[in-house]
Amino acid sequence: MLAIAGTPCVAMGETVNISTPQTSLILDAAEGQPLKILYYGDRLSEADASALSDGGGAMWLNAYPVYGIYPMAEAALSVTHSDGNRTTDIAVTGVSTRTDADGGEVTTVKMRDRFYPFDVNVNYRTYPAEDIIETWVDVTNGEKGMVTLNRFLSGYLPIRYGNVWMHSLYGTWADETNITEEPVPHGVRMIKNKDGLRNSHTSHAEVMLSLDGRPRENQGRVIGAALCYTGNYKMFIDTDDGDYHHLFAGINEENSEYHLKKGETFTTPELAFTYSDEGLSGVSRNFHRWGRNHRLHAGDKERKILLNSWEGVYLAVNEEVMSGMMEDIASMGGELFVMDDGWFGDKYKRDVDNSSLGDWVVDKSKLPHGIYGLLDEASRHGIRFGIWIEPEMTNTLSELYERHPEYVVKAPHREIVKGRGGTQVVLDMANPKVQDIVFEVVDTLMTKYPAIDYIKWDANAPVMEHGSQYLTADNQSHLYIDYHKGLEKTLDRIRTAHPDVTIQLCASGGGRVNWGFLPWFDEFWCSDNTDALQRVFMQWGTSYFYPAIAMGSHISASPNHQTFRRIPIKFRADVAMSGRLGLEMQPRDMNEEDRAVCRQAIADYKAIRPIVQFGDLYRLQSPYERKGVASLMYVTPEKDDAVFYWWKIETFMGQQLPRIPMAGLDPDKNYRVTELNRIDNQPLPYEGKTFSGRYLMSNGLEMPVTYRVDYHKNTDYSSRVLRLTEVR
Ligand code: DGJ
Repeated sequence: MLAIAGTPCVAMGETVNISTPQTSLILDAAEGQPLKILYYGDRLSEADASALSDGGGAMWLNAYPVYGIYPMAEAALSVTHSDGNRTTDIAVTGVSTRTDADGGEVTTVKMRDRFYPFDVNVNYRTYPAEDIIETWVDVTNGEKGMVTLNRFLSGYLPIRYGNVWMHSLYGTWADETNITEEPVPHGVRMIKNKDGLRNSHTSHAEVMLSLDGRPRENQGRVIGAALCYTGNYKMFIDTDDGDYHHLFAGINEENSEYHLKKGETFTTPELAFTYSDEGLSGVSRNFHRWGRNHRLHAGDKERKILLNSWEGVYLAVNEEVMSGMMEDIASMGGELFVMDDGWFGDKYKRDVDNSSLGDWVVDKSKLPHGIYGLLDEASRHGIRFGIWIEPEMTNTLSELYERHPEYVVKAPHREIVKGRGGTQVVLDMANPKVQDIVFEVVDTLMTKYPAIDYIKWDANAPVMEHGSQYLTADNQSHLYIDYHKGLEKTLDRIRTAHPDVTIQLCASGGGRVNWGFLPWFDEFWCSDNTDALQRVFMQWGTSYFYPAIAMGSHISASPNHQTFRRIPIKFRADVAMSGRLGLEMQPRDMNEEDRAVCRQAIADYKAIRPIVQFGDLYRLQSPYERKGVASLMYVTPEKDDAVFYWWKIETFMGQQLPRIPMAGLDPDKNYRVTELNRIDNQPLPYEGKTFSGRYLMSNGLEMPVTYRVDYHKNTDYSSRVLRLTEVR
């Protein structure tokens, strides 16, 4: 007999069916037995679920494998019990469900060791509107003495062997979120992070698994999984000699064994997963909706168009320059100005990047009228004001460090290892006193200057030596985890006190793009590389799990400050408009023509902002396929409005570019085409014309390879942004 999660309490020995409208996760929770996973995938009818085993579709694998009995298999949990026993043997003692505030249900399968008073609760939370299930585990030590957790992953998912391909992200600073696709190999394929603070530069804690061979964007069965964690993680697929690939994900236990005292509970971060038969883009849409509705801070509020000062002036912040930048962004239609690094420091001035972090007082020599002066100036221009901080850090050249050298991450008997500027060190967030300091950085700013609308929260260092001056000698292995517990606690306090300020998460560019952070943050900076061409690739990668509303995407100078590439303003604007639009340059360096393009882009973006920031993403032509173009579109949930982006990413004479069929429209609706950001002397031939969704999705529109502009104004970069509005 089947029990559907959602009934108040599921009787023992029954199958538990955790369903969302399009997916089913089926477990067997027989009392006295380990919890088994039978199925995960396309939604099953009750009849098909009952006949699962007959069709060979039931997996009968432990849903949360533990280490010790048959120790050759990979496990999600490995424990040394208080008496030294390294085996764990858990069996189901009960199942309960409760309705969640978010409209889904939480099913908890309670398990206990057959010998020790040691409890493992495996939880599943459903998000029906988004077809996402989250799983996480609570481990409780009821034994007489200390238990050591050697491995404590969040979840496990078996996937039937077949033509399974893995899609994941890799990169480095300024080249984040490249995609890689490969058949899942025999042995172990591992994605991991050990930075300590920033966990998405080199790889991402997310993976998509195509069940139908090489993944496609809009067709095929795909499982997507994202570990929601702020710290070190590991995610691996073990393919042994059996019939299944085994996907595990959770906190990276390396050098992090965790001691649980009697009565203590350890709760793992959540692993969120989904299934779609609409290809990679289908999985992305589920994650985007779930993110906006449940994970991202203020995911239902439109984001403002901003100018950030970093690439415009770097540390050379001063009142006159800030005021000029505010005037300029306001004159172009922008809504917010953000003053980046360089505004603080009293005894030590932040003129170069080797001092003052921790001394969050205004440098009066640069800003004689302080923050109040800047806020007045912003309001005079009718825009809002934001400010940069890096609260988890200090410099050895700072008053904070002089007062409290014991607050930083450092190992005994070792020289302190210093990062950026030869002086940057990390504050030890495991220490409650440090948590107070970090809370106060934000609290003081917001209390003193409640008109601050936006904070850019940066973090530019990893853990550079393993040592907490706060944790006891026998708990040094807790550093990586307790740092993040402390950070999360502090962020909770900040958000309770200041729920409305927009906070951008930045970490040397895209070092913290993980759903684990985003409950406290409204958006992230995806890279320190603002080159529009490379951004097509990086933002493409980022879009697999993260929605445009959260993706800071700025028009910057040409030549670009990182790649030195010269890209015309139209292309730069068309790329930035596909995320949360902003500017990252000194507007005074722009000529009038470039300003006009920016002004137009900002006006056009305002019109399409709800579609980009709340619409459904359909990736159409991947830049990674090197077909000469990249293209994607956003469509409203009602399918009555859409924006289509097309970027030519290379130029060769005689090159044949594919025409791009659109996706996500209603075949039976008619759409009028309007070009946005137009720079051509004449409109496109289809400007103002109407086409059916069916035509657009089977044929697409032909994009001219170059612009129709005066001869000397043509460039090797072209791009188009088209709005498609339903005609009733
Ligand atoms: C790194 C960030 O990614 C940049 O955008 C900028 O804020 C600098 N830090 C400032 O130091």
